[in-house]
Amino acid sequence: MLKKTGKNYSGLCPFHAEKDPSFTVSPTKQIFHCFGCNTGGNVFNFLIKHDGLSFPEAVRLLGRRYGIEVPTRKMSPAMRAQISEREKLLAINRIAMAYYHWNLKHETFGKAARAYLQNRSLTAEMIDAFQLGYARDTWDGLRNYLQIKRVPANLLEKSGLVIPRKSGSGFYDRFRERLIFPIYNPNKQVVGFGGRVLDTSLPKYLNSPETPVYSKSKNLYGLHLARNRCRETGTLFIVEGYLDLIRMHCHDLKNAGATLGTALTSEHIDIIKGFAEKVVLVFDGDDAGIQASLRSVGIFIEKGMEARVMVLPTGHDPDSFLQKHGRESFLKAAEKSRSIIMFILEFAQKKFGHSVDGKLRVLDELKYPLASIKDRIALDSYIKEVGEHLGVKEYQITEKVQQALKEMDQSRRSQTRSRPKGTDDQKRDESKLKAGENALGTPLELQILAMMIQFPQILPEILENRVVDYFTTEPLKSIGELILSQKNKTDTGISNLISIVDDDEKRNILASLSIKEEQWNLRDCRKIITKFIQTSPLRPSISLTEQIRAAEKENNEALLIKLLEEKHRLAVADEQQKHIE
Ligand code: GTP
Ligand code: MN
Repeated sequence: MLKKTGKNYSGLCPFHAEKDPSFTVSPTKQIFHCFGCNTGGNVFNFLIKHDGLSFPEAVRLLGRRYGIEVPTRKMSPAMRAQISEREKLLAINRIAMAYYHWNLKHETFGKAARAYLQNRSLTAEMIDAFQLGYARDTWDGLRNYLQIKRVPANLLEKSGLVIPRKSGSGFYDRFRERLIFPIYNPNKQVVGFGGRVLDTSLPKYLNSPETPVYSKSKNLYGLHLARNRCRETGTLFIVEGYLDLIRMHCHDLKNAGATLGTALTSEHIDIIKGFAEKVVLVFDGDDAGIQASLRSVGIFIEKGMEARVMVLPTGHDPDSFLQKHGRESFLKAAEKSRSIIMFILEFAQKKFGHSVDGKLRVLDELKYPLASIKDRIALDSYIKEVGEHLGVKEYQITEKVQQALKEMDQSRRSQTRSRPKGTDDQKRDESKLKAGENALGTPLELQILAMMIQFPQILPEILENRVVDYFTTEPLKSIGELILSQKNKTDTGISNLISIVDDDEKRNILASLSIKEEQWNLRDCRKIITKFIQTSPLRPSISLTEQIRAAEKENNEALLIKLLEEKHRLAVADEQQKHIE
């Protein structure tokens, strides 16, 4: 339910778990934005995200709702551009999912697979809830079906559902004789597939490759069904297998997600943060598994998210545990779960023992995770807890942590030095460090973008001063360029801008920058621009004096005047600074 607040409406965000409303809709601008999870966009993006519609579907739905006929050909170029490759791949995945599902339900084709599922006590209800399917024992069943549906060859290959033949031309099906698990993203779009053999042959599981719509490091299986229960409980269980996840649902534990055969990444955590405040990592009870998982738990500490670890009895995974002991035992075990720090401690203690030397080695294992805890109060209480548990003085632990911090700092510095030209990710990380908390650029950059959107009069000066060239992160730079490229168009409204962008992250940034309206005037805008350019690390290092000399040489009078003015202004500012000091 949305409430009117000033010009906008606000309410609880449908895209992440929250108690206080931070979801905002601007009826005049036709956009939405959530200050909590940073999701935003126009009405089409809302339907796509909220209801899992494809873009054309969203257009048709709105058309029907308002009694407007929306023939595809009459759509604006911007809208047409949004029916991108992504949308097409998602549509292909839907078709494939339906095909596999139909095969599983087919009287004869799906017999063996249905028997397998029954044998593992998975009901028809679960088959439907997860739209499970079956890939038959043919080399071209799906390929033929997709060709009948007129899917072009290049998209066929991009979907990852078929593989090009090594010799000659054409494609064959990736998944054959396998139980199929469609993988949805949180917006209920089918992004990829997992396939399990029905017997003991290898590999046991086969997954979609990375495609424009699927990345295993960004998706968790089952998350699309987890939202409501996460909101109620504030907790997300993370398990390791498809069948573990489905078993959780059999026992009404829907606040769960499964990793897809990969370690948890920081991208996972960003997504999880939109679902729950806390996660419980459910580990199988064997040392090898735990050893492998140990490496990925530190990421929760780094990202400042509360995580607890629940280790099942030896030989059990969530699937077998729940079948044997049931829901209540599972929840009881969850209550006894430990913090990540205590989990690492206990595991290290098992390995190194309780001798003095053992204790030191345990501390060595703990110092890095402890050092990456950013919350001072949390760190202090962990140090206390570890000290009590190990029988070590707190100051000794603190010393170790400080030593680890120093090491981490040194290695970060040498990395920065030896890095020739950062990738986008690295650049983003660096600017994050500078901006403090904002991963997407400095506050000044964001302010300038907001200005460009809300005060288009400033665009000529932005262009002239090449401000956008100085932006330090890719998304901001390309948003800036986009705004400039639309400068002379008639419809430069924000909703139109949003409809041109084909990238969630950028859409969210655009919406967030325009929903909070500010009062702009030319003078303040110029001040901001100057300040930005002067402090930009990307500013050409050639000195003002040299520029003046060059301008003199070229007889560029206009530039000369500007540079001299600048020189004067800097001199005055310098003078003032001295007075202050
Ligand atoms: P069941 O044996 O059917 O109960 O599956 P499981 O989920 O218990 O299997 P396991 O614990 O062996 O694996 C956990 C998860 O790791 C699976 O759900 C897959 O996502 C992944 N995985 C397991 N084996 C393979 C494999 O051979 N290849 C790939 N790519 N992933 C695998
Ligand atoms: Mn299993």
